[in-house]
Amino acid sequence: MQEQLHKLRDEALAKVEEASTTEQLDEVRVAYFGRKGLLKAAMKQLKDVPADQRPALGQLANAVKNAVTGAISERREFIQRVEAQVTAPGMDISLPGVCRSIGREHPLRRTEAELREVFARLGFEVAEGPEVELEYYNFEALNIPADHPARDGFDTFYIEGDVVLRSHTSPVQIRVMEQRQPPIRVVVPGRVYRPDTADATHSPVFHQIEGLVVGEGVTFADLKAVLTMAMRELFGADTETRFRPSFFPFTEPSAEVDVSYEVDGERRWLELLGAGMVHPKVFEAVGYDPERYTGFAFGMGIDRVAMLKYGIPDIRLLMENNLRFLEQL
Ligand code: DAH
Repeated sequence: MQEQLHKLRDEALAKVEEASTTEQLDEVRVAYFGRKGLLKAAMKQLKDVPADQRPALGQLANAVKNAVTGAISERREFIQRVEAQVTAPGMDISLPGVCRSIGREHPLRRTEAELREVFARLGFEVAEGPEVELEYYNFEALNIPADHPARDGFDTFYIEGDVVLRSHTSPVQIRVMEQRQPPIRVVVPGRVYRPDTADATHSPVFHQIEGLVVGEGVTFADLKAVLTMAMRELFGADTETRFRPSFFPFTEPSAEVDVSYEVDGERRWLELLGAGMVHPKVFEAVGYDPERYTGFAFGMGIDRVAMLKYGIPDIRLLMENNLRFLEQL
């Protein structure tokens, strides 16, 4: 009998929860407490149980009855409240609800954040500089004199006079060094501009991250180690780097750095960075003693890294703010 009462209670409470109209709730009430109600029937059986068990079972039966009637009246209040809301004047429950779509970080920002983090773990601070820049910082101080053919490699938007939109993040090297003394270990993420016609691999606005390390006894081996570690953090432990001799006016020696990655079991190389040992002329421009200090610098395209990481075939997709594209990433 005890078991039977527990079972009745559990079933009744479940049915009360299921009822979503007052009519359904009334049906539940009648099924248990009506003239032929199940709980009512159980109570009637009480008189047939042995007298010594009767008080305990009677108490239990009462508790079950109270639990179920309590649940019914709670449920009734809830249903009435909802019904009142739904039928309130001016209420149209067939209208679509207010639903804000949840945004997330743009893949470029996410890649930039990841780069900052990788270099932070390698001991780099983050520095920033202006996007509207003086020719002096964009060129001269970086050992790129006017009328020097090296300028051809850096097509530049001219604003007015000697004011330009920076064509790389390298000018921030100068700004950082002008303001402080070695040791220096910074990365500089930011937007850069070049008057290129947009196509799958070019955009007049793109993003770079610059790195600069200056101190006593800094060598090319440090450059190799830092970039190799950073690329492994970024693309996975089996990533290899390849350093090819190159030329940049602000570094000597200079290198172009390729990163290898595997696609369908095949190893591919992609040119990702420019790098090198800071040119003594650059140290002279900021008043550092090139006999005492050495350093290395590097620069890479953030858009490129994002394209590689997310398999994006066209750089323009990163700028169009097309949600159908962004929601895939
Ligand atoms: N500023 C160069 C560019 O935009 C990239 C670069 C090359 C940066 C070598 C460096 C470096 O710091 O050492 O093409």
